Amino acid sequence: MKRPRRKKPPSRIAVLIGILVIAGVAAMAWRHYTAPLDVSPASKAARIGGPFSLVDHKGKNLTEADFRGRQMLIYFGYTFCPDVCPTSLTIMADALNLLGSDADDVDPIFITVDPERDTPEHLNMYVGHFHPRMVGLTGTAEQVKAAAKVYRVYFAKAREDGADTEDYLVDHTSIVYLMGPDGEFRAHFTHETDAETMAKKIREFL
Ligand code: NI
Repeated sequence: MKRPRRKKPPSRIAVLIGILVIAGVAAMAWRHYTAPLDVSPASKAARIGGPFSLVDHKGKNLTEADFRGRQMLIYFGYTFCPDVCPTSLTIMADALNLLGSDADDVDPIFITVDPERDTPEHLNMYVGHFHPRMVGLTGTAEQVKAAAKVYRVYFAKAREDGADTEDYLVDHTSIVYLMGPDGEFRAHFTHETDAETMAKKIREFL
């Protein structure tokens, strides 16, 4: 009689590595907040978006008025973010690519919450990796704070004890906003929204 071959149990090391990886991913995701937004018309706090004055990745001063007549697909994050930010920007770019030339009037915008490290020069090396038309925005600490405030984005430096002061993470709200040609809020997405769903939603407003 043939003995059924038993599957080799995973080694203790493999299990340990697995646990560490899962814990690491959970810790990273935990630094990205997607608190449910109350955007119902009845909500007094429904207003999202408004004036901002920032500097783009080419060093040019831009305000929200420069985007009037165009749709803005906005995400706040920072270039040193190891995981969720690049994933979100990739999904935004994929959604626009799925829409093709229909999305020519939609500007993908990345606003940094880490202006200290994300200078225009640094953003210039970053945004093009995601989409040729992606606009990177930074500014003084006050300008960035003001922009985050009108979009109700929370962010805070997360320094670990004894960590290098130049090497830090930033906790931040992780929501993609779609703003209309009038600058008004249209829709929002979490970083778990896939590109197809995002593209479909954007198409409703084109
Ligand atoms: Ni991030």
